Amino acid sequence: MDRLLNLGKFPDSFRTRGAIAPSSDRLCVALAGLASNADHILELGAGTGAVTRALTKVSGVKSLQAVELQKKLAHDLKLKFPGVDVENCSADVALDSYCAQGSVAVVSSLPFRSLPGNIKSAIVKSVLRFLQASPQSRFIQFTYGFREPFAVSAEFQWRRVKWIYANLPPACIWVLTKTEVTCEAARPE
Ligand SMILES: C[S@@+](CC[C@H](N)C(=O)[O-])C[C@H]1O[C@@H](n2cnc3c(N)ncnc32)[C@H](O)[C@@H]1O
Repeated sequence: MDRLLNLGKFPDSFRTRGAIAPSSDRLCVALAGLASNADHILELGAGTGAVTRALTKVSGVKSLQAVELQKKLAHDLKLKFPGVDVENCSADVALDSYCAQGSVAVVSSLPFRSLPGNIKSAIVKSVLRFLQASPQSRFIQFTYGFREPFAVSAEFQWRRVKWIYANLPPACIWVLTKTEVTCEAARPE
């Protein structure tokens, strides 16, 4: 049903939605697996909740917050997942105000390739600020192409984790972390 609703709204908000179908179970499970050993999970662009559902099954996390820009979708997510802290705001605002002790797995379905430039740039800045302040955290993102989701400086590092072919269209999962700093003084003689 979610799938049909999604297609029914096409193409009114395509630039911010960025997909013609919800993420497949395989993709959702793979994303949840990459978030599994974090203290907290922050989901960006939760949409109709396909990824959220998989994230609720990750055990041992202290909190799960889901962020969705569209009011109606956020409202529906609250009803579907009463145990999840659902925020109806933009991802950059959520990242800038997020506060938690320990490591955070930020799981994003945001359509970086199709977002308007100013919105994309605000979110990218917030993601990088977040990883600067919390270097033990990671940013998990899937794309539908071969290129990394967005460019970063040498301070940060993208790792291509896996392709999920059982998804429409096939998706590639990437993980962004702060690059480890090698301290000269700590090098062995
Ligand atoms: C590709 S859909 C993902 C839906 C769902 N996570 C899934 O995998 O099926 C992207 C979602 O990101 C939301 N979105 C777009 N821009 C956003 C922003 N700036 N902040 C938060 N959510 C945003 C859209 O409203 C849409 O629901």
